[in-house]
Amino acid sequence: MTVLTVAPVPPDEIFALTRAYNNDDYPQKVNLSAGVYRTNDGEPWPLPVVQEAEKQLREDNNIFRHEYTAIEGDIAFLPLARDLMFGFDSQASSEKDAATKARIGTVQTVAGTGANHLGAIFLARHMKPRTVWLSNPSWANHLTIWELAGVPRKTYPYYSAATRSFDFRGMMSTLESEAEEGDVVLLHACAHNPTGLDPSKEQWKSIIDLCERKSLFPFFDSAYQGFASGSADEDAWAVRYVLNEKPQMEMCVAQSFSKNFGLYGQRVGAFHYVLNDGAQDLRDTVVVNLCHLIRGEYSMGPTAGCSIVKKVLTSPELTAQWYDDLKTMSSRIISMRQALYDELVRLGTPGTWKHIIEQNGMFSYTGLTPLQVYALKDKYHIYLLKSGRASISGLSPKNVTYVARAIDKVVRNFN
Ligand code: LMR
Repeated sequence: MTVLTVAPVPPDEIFALTRAYNNDDYPQKVNLSAGVYRTNDGEPWPLPVVQEAEKQLREDNNIFRHEYTAIEGDIAFLPLARDLMFGFDSQASSEKDAATKARIGTVQTVAGTGANHLGAIFLARHMKPRTVWLSNPSWANHLTIWELAGVPRKTYPYYSAATRSFDFRGMMSTLESEAEEGDVVLLHACAHNPTGLDPSKEQWKSIIDLCERKSLFPFFDSAYQGFASGSADEDAWAVRYVLNEKPQMEMCVAQSFSKNFGLYGQRVGAFHYVLNDGAQDLRDTVVVNLCHLIRGEYSMGPTAGCSIVKKVLTSPELTAQWYDDLKTMSSRIISMRQALYDELVRLGTPGTWKHIIEQNGMFSYTGLTPLQVYALKDKYHIYLLKSGRASISGLSPKNVTYVARAIDKVVRNFN
């Protein structure tokens, strides 16, 4: 007889849909579920810059490549990840930069999920927030991560279904009236998942001001830097605004390299804790405590993907090539948004569809209802999340007409 008391938990929707899609042998099936980049042929795209870095790594034949790293990760990778996130010039460092860098404790993580998780358990132990505020809606894994960290969750409004736009007022008024000093506010640095709706720069300033005034702790999840706009600087604007304009604020950042380098299965990421100016002395203690958590869970992050990122970010030529690859990915997604929108307009599909081209990043929050989503899967073998979130990258010139026609049919027939 088992000593366990286990009850079923619902399967992760994103990975369950991917599995169902893989098992579906319908020739015209379309996968709009997981946020992974696909080419115009619907294939994965190992980035050309990644392939070049892999070639160079093979030639280097570094005999240390399978050794243990430090617990905080590959020591040469850490400043590269930090500089990319916060906008320091890796080649030249001013005195002011040195003082700012000394505020940041960085460790390598098991990609973005690992960074979110590490941050959540670190804050749960050392800050003991009463509440973490998540956007409604948010990436479903945020809920799981904070549940596992044992921090009570509340949500702030983010999406107005009526206008299919960012509910800035709702977010501000809820945080203003209900959030309490020391609460954590989880913010998507760019390319909000799932809505594809980001605050404007002016709105970001107001959100950050509110956090500062009410002593709320910003926790940025940066999963799409460079992927959303094609510019790594532009996509890091909000994070850098807090760092540079609010030196008395603390924050943390979960950084992923899964999407922007196409290294999904390699699990490359970093977690940054930013101390307020004047608290630099605490940085080593923060890092030691992060290492304590890492050591007890998995000792250290994996090395293979991290070596690729390191190779790229230490070479000006490869970095320039990476920027080109980012542009290729972001522009293809933008053109697929337009193609879907144009086709729906051409078909005269009931409703408004402008939001598809106004949203940003990997996803569109289409506004399709759960019943319509179900019908898309059941009748047309098109897979998307029941919230109506579609990964635009699953669209291609080959399937966009098919998808638009299917949407047109389900919108007309299933209200
Ligand atoms: C997604 O939201 O589809 C991606 O971020 C994949 C994941 O890990 O959930």
